[in-house]
Amino acid sequence: DWTPDSFIETTIAELKAKLGDDKVVLGLSGGVDSSVAAVLLHQAIGKNLHCIFVDNGLLRKDEYQSVLDSYQHMGLNIKGIDAKQRFYDALSGLTDPEKKRKAIGRVFIEVFDDAAHEVQGVSWLGQGTIYPDVIESVSVKGPSATIKSHHNVGGLPDFMKLKVVEPLNTLFKDEVRRVGTALGIDPNILGRHPFPGPGLAIRILGDITPEKVDILQQADAIYINNLRSAGVYDKVWQAGAIYLPVQSVGVMGDERTYENVICLRAVESLDGMTADWCHLPYDLLAKISNEIINNVKGINRVVYDISSKPPATIEWE
Ligand code: XMP
Repeated sequence: DWTPDSFIETTIAELKAKLGDDKVVLGLSGGVDSSVAAVLLHQAIGKNLHCIFVDNGLLRKDEYQSVLDSYQHMGLNIKGIDAKQRFYDALSGLTDPEKKRKAIGRVFIEVFDDAAHEVQGVSWLGQGTIYPDVIESVSVKGPSATIKSHHNVGGLPDFMKLKVVEPLNTLFKDEVRRVGTALGIDPNILGRHPFPGPGLAIRILGDITPEKVDILQQADAIYINNLRSAGVYDKVWQAGAIYLPVQSVGVMGDERTYENVICLRAVESLDGMTADWCHLPYDLLAKISNEIINNVKGINRVVYDISSKPPATIEWE
């Protein structure tokens, strides 16, 4: 019978046999899959696993530092790379969602390839691919898919010529979580909502600026912290704030203001293919709205998305 402990035991033995003294490079995203893959590989080959964590400037507020800290705490051999400006430069002026995704994918590959070159004699690329990614041939998720859509951009980056090791490619998400728990990984990492690879870039409609990212990060942090303190975070499949480039009128003192709108999204789902909007308590929505409007400069209106998928998607872009 399958148990997390038996899976861990066999997988570590297999990884040791397969990898020997070879070096592996792996990109961490802060998500469940890459984290569990990294800890398994680390237990098998120790310091020969070289992890790379890229700050694309599109993560949640304070997420880069806190995730980097927890990875270091786990003893992983990890290099953090602040590439914010490179991503902002590449995104500058782009409004089409697919162009934004492509630009992010391209810069990620460049940054990752540079970092992988610094690992002398590396021969393997580790990936947190799980079974649904394997069977879903046209998946939009994860760096491997991003990489596929960039095959035609001037030849393969060097790291894609590496052999691939994917220790989780027979597991479903709930099994990955159970393995992660058995490995002693921080429940805060294992219980995280899914977060798209292009990050906040697809939660800011239209063009991206560092100022908009800052506003969205502040609003999103207020939202997510309130979901946590109200005890509803774990009941929601995915939640996040969205920045709408719409200005509406408001009033502050005697003055009329024209400021932007934040939309709150929270859904219940099993796999992201279909989703229902969450019936969050009105009192909680009221508290979040007040906190955002009172604290986030540039926002004078908060709305709640009551659309289900299909026909609406979870993300707005
Ligand atoms: P949609 O918006 O298609 O989202 O209903 C379904 C799930 O996929 C995530 N998503 C993405 N993940 N890169 C990703 O890694 C993407 O470009 C992307 N677009 C959507 C979304 O967050 C949700 O979990």
